[in-house]
Formats: sequence, C-alpha cells, structure tokens
Amino acid sequence: MTQIFAHRGYSASFAENTMSSFIEAGNAGADGIELDVQLTKDGEVVVIHDEKVNRTTSGYGFVKDFLFKDLRKLNANKKGAKKEPIPALEEVLEWLKTNNLQCNIEFKNGLIPYDGMEEKVVQLVRKYDLSQRIIFSSFNHYSIVYSYRLAPEIETAPLFIESIYMPWIYSQSIRAKGIHPKHSTLPDHIIKTTMENGIAVRPYTVNKDAHMHRFFKINCSAIITDDPVKAIQLRKLYQKG
Ligand code: G3P
Ligand code: CA
Repeated sequence: MTQIFAHRGYSASFAENTMSSFIEAGNAGADGIELDVQLTKDGEVVVIHDEKVNRTTSGYGFVKDFLFKDLRKLNANKKGAKKEPIPALEEVLEWLKTNNLQCNIEFKNGLIPYDGMEEKVVQLVRKYDLSQRIIFSSFNHYSIVYSYRLAPEIETAPLFIESIYMPWIYSQSIRAKGIHPKHSTLPDHIIKTTMENGIAVRPYTVNKDAHMHRFFKINCSAIITDDPVKAIQLRKLYQKG
C-alpha cells in the first residue's frame, strides 16, 4: 500500500511545520510526516522551511541570526487564533516517541551550509532511538551522503526537481534507499523500475486527486502531500488491503 507522508505536517489545514500540523497529521491517520530543519545562531535545530522567518511567522530576518530563545517568541501560526512557536526538532522527536509515525527530515542547507547540522540531527535521532523511523532527505546531495557516513543506519533519499537518468543506479551509488522526486518529474515506467530495483519512490507534493490516483494506481511506495485526509480517502477508493 502507498504510504502517506504529511508535507510540513497537515499543512493544507494547519500552519506548516508546527506541532499542531504534525499532531493533526497523526490524528488523520497519516503514515508519516515531512519537516524541514535549519539552525539558529546558537546551534539549535529548528523546524522551519524558509531561511527567513518572514513568510511563516510574525518576525523578520534569517533563522541563522536568531538565538533560539528569541526565535521561540515568534508566532508560527500568524493566520490562526492560537499562537504557536517554531518547534525545536527535539520537541518533534520527543512527540514521535508517543506514536509510530515515520518522519522525513529534510536538511534545508542548499543556500546556507549550516556546518554541523547533520551531526546535531543524527545525535538527536540517536538520543531518541528513532533511527528506524527516520528518512533524511535534501536537495543538497552532498549533505545526505555526509549524513549516511555519519549514520549508515538512518535511511537517506535525495530530492529531485528534475529528471535524472536511471535514478536507481544513482541512488545505489550514494547508498540511498529511496528517492523523493517532484511529482511531475518521472514517468510511471521509471518509477516502477526504480521500485523493482529496491529503491522506494516518494514523490512530492501530491495534492491533486488525479495525481494521487496516478501514484496509487502504480502502488508507488509513498506520496508526500499537504492533505493527508484527502489522500487517505482516495487511497481507500483506489487501493484495497
Ligand atoms: O520533501 C519534499 C518537499 O518538501 C521538498 O520541497 O520546498 O516543500 O521543502 P519543499
Ligand atoms: Ca520539505
């Protein structure tokens, strides 16, 4: 059965990358969550998508220029009624110990290198003994190869925005057990061949009914979606068992 990963949590209905969006994804019955990590000025691993806090919070400026205690004062649910802080990754991992969800941690280090971020994330994942439920991904493939070297027990999956030739060969060459392509990137036969070669395929961000249907029809390993509720409903229609 195709697994459903909630992109930045249940972000179709809740503020992205907040504890509420993760908890509601779990309540909805998602198989996993996806989240993005960056580092504060004092080296705390925090869960936020953009390098700047401007779009998603009440504040302005780069994540890297905030001390964690100051970043926590910002409201990451500025359109909602209830104030919510930017979560520390540790808070999410602590909550993951209360359930069985998988968690795809995306290293957001394409623009800002965040030296030492992989080490800190690996250390936290090991502290909470969650290695078997975590997948590291990144558009920065050097970063996921580095994380594999640090922690070969934790799965990795490169993110792609454009097609690459024989992705299963590439994945095997960097010891990745999965790939996370943009949903429109790969034709069905390439997805099938990749899976036949033992590499999981988890396309992002799959929000339209027709796109969900496409991936359910070929029994794709997983989809990453903003709307786990819709995905679960459609999966029930298109996949049995
Ligand atoms: O992991 C898939 C997806 O999250 C990658 O793109 O920009 O939403 O982080 P983005
Ligand atoms: Ca992401």
